[in-house]
Amino acid sequence: MEMQNIQVAIDGPASAGKSTVAKLVATAFGYIYCDTGAMYRAVTLQAMHDKIELTNESAILAMLKQIEIVFKPGDPVQHVFVNDSEVTEAIRQPEITNAVSTVASLPSIRTELVARQRDIASQSNIVMDGRDIGTAVLPNAQVKIFLIASVDERAERRYKENIAKGINTSLSKLKDEIETRDRKDSTRKTSPLTKAADAIEVDTTSMNIEQVVKEITKIINKKIK
Ligand code: DC
Repeated sequence: MEMQNIQVAIDGPASAGKSTVAKLVATAFGYIYCDTGAMYRAVTLQAMHDKIELTNESAILAMLKQIEIVFKPGDPVQHVFVNDSEVTEAIRQPEITNAVSTVASLPSIRTELVARQRDIASQSNIVMDGRDIGTAVLPNAQVKIFLIASVDERAERRYKENIAKGINTSLSKLKDEIETRDRKDSTRKTSPLTKAADAIEVDTTSMNIEQVVKEITKIINKKIK
């Protein structure tokens, strides 16, 4: 019988620390890492670049069929390319962050990206993070984690990240944006952000990155050994 690759699904709301932790966990286990949020962001960036209305689903889908979204390993962050152009930083700009949930709510865009995500997952053991990994993309994942943190804590983390990148936004504005994105991600019709019944919830509010990585490592080891 063929062994299924090991799949670790990490879901949770915006800025709960998923990407940082998922990448570290993937490196520690020697698995590949796939940041599915980066894929929705790349599509949003390209649509804005091509001046396509973000609600024009058929035009965005046609554009998406023409592009490749490629991940390349990097430290401290994975590099993201749309065809041959690097978009690693561009997809993290506030205008993309605030627009991406509109694109992520388009059903045919999700269908296409989910197919690409499953294809990536079929190639190797993987840690994949997003909003619907444990519920929709990899429902048979051996390990499912649902990472949460208070809105205040998440806004604070995003604020510090922005300052480090030279982006100055007020804390209260970031808190509003996170709450808006949570609402949009949780109430959309297609694959809303929900905790899978078999996911283990980890509240990272008072934990640092090292502690979260340790906790997840413990959960993975328990599940796969
Ligand atoms: O994790 P992130 O902030 O980079 O995600 C960007 C957006 O994409 C966010 O609004 C939610 C959406 N998203 C999604 O709908 N499904 C995923 N699997 C990953 C992200």
